[in-house]
Amino acid sequence: PPPGSAALRGHIVTFSGNPFLIPPEEALREEPDGLVLIRDGRITHAGPYDSTIAHLPEGMPVTDYRGCLISAGFVDTHVHYPQLPMIAAYGEQLLEWLERYTFPTERHFADAGYATTIARQFLRTLLACGTTTAAVYCTVHPQSVDAFFTESTRLGTRMIAGKVLMDRNAPDYLRDTAQRGHDESLRLIERWHGRDRQHYAVTPRFAPTSTPEQLELAAALLGRDETLFMQTHLAENQAEVAWVAELFPDSRSYLDVYDRAGLVRPRSVMGHGIYVDETDLRRCHESGCALAHCPTSNLFLGSGAFRLHDVTSPSRPVRTGLGTDIGAGTSLSHLQTMNEAYKVARMNGNRLHPVQAFWLATAGGAHALHLDDTIGTVGVGMDADLCILDPRATPLQALRAETCDSTADLLFTLMMLGDDRSIRATYVNGRLAHERTPDTII
Ligand code: GUN
Ligand code: ZN
Repeated sequence: PPPGSAALRGHIVTFSGNPFLIPPEEALREEPDGLVLIRDGRITHAGPYDSTIAHLPEGMPVTDYRGCLISAGFVDTHVHYPQLPMIAAYGEQLLEWLERYTFPTERHFADAGYATTIARQFLRTLLACGTTTAAVYCTVHPQSVDAFFTESTRLGTRMIAGKVLMDRNAPDYLRDTAQRGHDESLRLIERWHGRDRQHYAVTPRFAPTSTPEQLELAAALLGRDETLFMQTHLAENQAEVAWVAELFPDSRSYLDVYDRAGLVRPRSVMGHGIYVDETDLRRCHESGCALAHCPTSNLFLGSGAFRLHDVTSPSRPVRTGLGTDIGAGTSLSHLQTMNEAYKVARMNGNRLHPVQAFWLATAGGAHALHLDDTIGTVGVGMDADLCILDPRATPLQALRAETCDSTADLLFTLMMLGDDRSIRATYVNGRLAHERTPDTII
């Protein structure tokens, strides 16, 4: 078949609505024996095998994934590729963890060759986990951004990334200045934003490491082009929140620091948002900015329990996606991220329905990023970024799958027991980008 074209047979699982707003059973759209036809990287048909097969182009082979689920590729709304080598760093909470492990690790990304090596491994691992789009922090070094986008362009993945801005409260080897951060970001925007499938995110690390001047220059960059993204951290840890209150005594809340600078807008993605109040959530709802829920990170650092069901409440739903937040997070797999999101919801006395979890990992993440007209669902006209999920990847999962009497329950076993072993294949822009074989080691 021509590159970017394919025909895939399997159990299609996708969404026709938001399962936090309508009953999950109604939001799920599935085709137990389905066929997805892809041409030039786009889905041209998706429906029952028996009726869709009539549209199969002559000579096109059908790849048989019966027994597996065909899902949109996962969307990771918050992750740091340079922190891959320091995943699982022992024993600290956020601020000490940054000082002791994160900043020394990020220093190495002054070396463009090292950045390329890690970017390549990061993207390969991401695809092995079924994730096809991510909002990615690079480091303060512009070459870390060039390395990342160069590798993403090579793979054809749709990625969002940007240079970290830090002009205070960081080691001198990782500091820019407000002006230099602005100018370097502008050059990177001109080089990468909108090129092939790459998107730029203006990336002030978080309020403590940027002066008000730097936050304002970040907003000035965003004012140039409404399709630019913005990503930062918000109210992750109680000591951090107290520090922000000291640094910005005039602001009503942590979110208000960003709001006063002009950073609360559509395509803004705030990592964490654990310690936010009703006024903050209303402001997020009305502005179109999003929160990235990062449960493996929040549990690993002992940051706190994100109030997912409050944040997504139908009274004023806030756009929400899942983030792995590597290297504070402990897995690049969104199946593992859903697993821990379920447990965090239980600690709040709630249930995360499997349809809600898979929605957050796909269509919800795409909605959070304002990319839901392009990615996040299996539908005609959407980008062919797909993952093929095997619910019987291990003997234990095969055993448990026998007891499933609904697709929702099968999804639940995948999110609680699954990981990269569950990803049979990943398609990027209609091309096979990862395939699991019996000896796959990533
Ligand atoms: N807050 C500021 N920087 C970071 C980071 O790198 N990781 C996490 N989890 N929180 C942060
Ligand atoms: Zn983070």
